[in-house]
Formats: sequence, structure tokens, C-alpha cells
Amino acid sequence: MSVKINVNGVVQQVDASADTPLLWVIRDHLKLTGTKFGCGLAQCGACTVHLDGKPIRSCVTPIAGVQDGKITTIEGLESEVAKEVQSAWNELEVPQCGYCQSGQVMAATALLKENGSPTDEDIDKAMSGNICRCATYPRIRQAIKNAAQKIS
Ligand code: FES
Ligand code: FES
Repeated sequence: MSVKINVNGVVQQVDASADTPLLWVIRDHLKLTGTKFGCGLAQCGACTVHLDGKPIRSCVTPIAGVQDGKITTIEGLESEVAKEVQSAWNELEVPQCGYCQSGQVMAATALLKENGSPTDEDIDKAMSGNICRCATYPRIRQAIKNAAQKIS
């Protein structure tokens, strides 16, 4: 079956069954490999992308369910908020192994678009589904705060 999806502003025709997880389409069909596979069970956040600006777990999202939306992956993040998030990530050298980090950046950007001055509690709540095996959590939290200051 052929499915049309809008990824990073480009409408793409993909030959995949309706129940194919969006993550596989992004990585295998479109070769956008910044989005990672971690658990495949919506438990780790490594596969986080945005659907109409909201974070979703692409590993459990069938492609048929996103045909009417706009998908953004780490490769397509372009807003001012996203720039400040990525700049704060660089300044604080947040990543360790890096595997979880595209998902972390996607989640942090979605948070700051909704809430420009999050409390620690807001940050913990928004980021709780994004697991980091390297435990970079303190730097993630600080980077979100630094980015929030820049955009306020
Ligand atoms: S790979 Fe999707 S949440 Fe872990
Ligand atoms: S930086 Fe290694 S898993 Fe997060």
C-alpha cells in the first residue's frame, strides 16, 4: 500500500502497510536516522518525533494514523525555540553516548513551546518518559532552564 506523509515539510509517498510503525518509515524508507529505536514499547522516548508540534512515540504510531499531520524529526527542527534548545545542549555538553539525545531534544523543544518558563516539576513531568542510560538528567534539566531564559 502507498501512504502519503508530510515529514519535515516535504510530502513523501511511502510504500508501506498501514500498520507499519512511523519509526521504521522514518529510518528505513526516508533514511532519517537521527530518530532512534530504543524499546519499541513507548517506554524510553528514544523515538520521539513531533506530530503537529506535539511529541509522540514513533515506535508505536502506525503510519496510517499520521497521514493528515505534519511530522517533524530531529533533522527538521528549525524554530527559534529549537535553536535555543540545541545551543544550550551544546554549551552544556549534555550528551554522553548520545543515543537518547535526539528524543530528549524533541521532548524539551515541545515542552518549551508550550511553556516558556517551566518549573523543575514541569520539566520532570514533561521529560519523565525520556530515559537516559548515561544519566545525563541534571545537564538536561539545566539546558532546558538555560534555553528557557534565552527565549523569555
Ligand atoms: S523506542 Fe519508542 S519509546 Fe522506546
Ligand atoms: S546520553 Fe547515553 S543514553 Fe542518554
